Amino acid sequence: MRKIFIVLLASVLLSFELIAQNYDESKVPSYILPDVLESQNKMKIANVKDWESIRRPEILALFEENVYGIMPKKFDNSNFKIKNENKLSMNGKAHLKELEISVSNNNQTVIINLVLFVPTRAKKPAATFLLINNRGKNNTSPTRDTISGFWPAEQVIDAGYAVAAFHVNDAAPDDKNNYRNGVLRLYPEQLKADNGMKAIGAWAWAASRIMDYFEKDKDVDASKVILTGHSRGGKASLWAAAQDTRFAMCVTNCSGNTGAALSRRRFGETVKVINTTFPHWFADNYKKFNDNESALPLDQHMLVSLIAPRPVYVTNASEDLWADPVGTFKSVKEAEKVYELYNVKSGLPQSIPAINMPFVKPPLAYHIREGKHDMTFYDWAQFIKTADLYFNRQ
Ligand code: GCU
Repeated sequence: MRKIFIVLLASVLLSFELIAQNYDESKVPSYILPDVLESQNKMKIANVKDWESIRRPEILALFEENVYGIMPKKFDNSNFKIKNENKLSMNGKAHLKELEISVSNNNQTVIINLVLFVPTRAKKPAATFLLINNRGKNNTSPTRDTISGFWPAEQVIDAGYAVAAFHVNDAAPDDKNNYRNGVLRLYPEQLKADNGMKAIGAWAWAASRIMDYFEKDKDVDASKVILTGHSRGGKASLWAAAQDTRFAMCVTNCSGNTGAALSRRRFGETVKVINTTFPHWFADNYKKFNDNESALPLDQHMLVSLIAPRPVYVTNASEDLWADPVGTFKSVKEAEKVYELYNVKSGLPQSIPAINMPFVKPPLAYHIREGKHDMTFYDWAQFIKTADLYFNRQ
């Protein structure tokens, strides 16, 4: 009886790949990271000009082709409509705007809803935190009937920033059977291509459409937008900020595999696991690297590097080994090389800081918080410190 139970348990665990994952540092395979400063034809990149004209476009194209899929740049038109407005929300501390941003292409329209609070007392136009919300819509409720650390709008307003959010499902439902029912209706050719974008590409695309709107809203300082995402939303915030240099800063919270963590370490979640569990997130080409990370012409340090010289805030949580904190920190450290090209000095320590010891100084900020995979009031307090330092608001 006991034997049968053990065999059954093992097969269940195996089918969920639970026992195949490595959480032992001594079992991390040896690996060689692609050199972010060497072009594919072996040219050494030693200055900003060569980085921006040769290597950076090359790396962007590699991520499009192999991981996130093509990022469509064109559409027929876009409009925005204020659905609701309250100049005295949060007891008069904030001006609420609820908007519909509609974008059309290929005779199809997608509507992305935006919630935006602008501080009434701070100077305007305001620097703005924009969250890609991958959790319940209640987290970003305009009525503030739910207050959570996931999007602590009051805390951000009190710090003098505007705070905005859109929900991923408006851009691409986070569901393997339904993700086509959003932005991808505008770009049907993407669905047929091996390098076509899927849900995470669509979320990043939507963040850029919100930025198009911010450029027209005189209450928002579009040159000071901090794109923020947690976990799968943090994968999208990195990809969006890498693509769209209008984002002044990026926050990627517990983004893990195919976010900020190095894939080649195969610690916690792996490329195969993510592609199998979430087949609707990345381009089909990415599946070629299942159990074959060393064949990738890139690794995730190169994604962080694409954001240079703009600041990136990266986090982990102590109980979230699935997202590989050590591999995340190593990836950020590797990205320092590109910031150095710009003469922007990173002050990150050599190895991962102790738990709850945030390193907030831009351009590369990092902390590992005690606790679970989540985004909390504590995390946001640190993001605000980095933004304050970067925008000289302290
Ligand atoms: C899963 C997934 C992760 C992802 C996370 C999340 O755990 O495996 O890659 O980051 O969900 O979005 O919360």
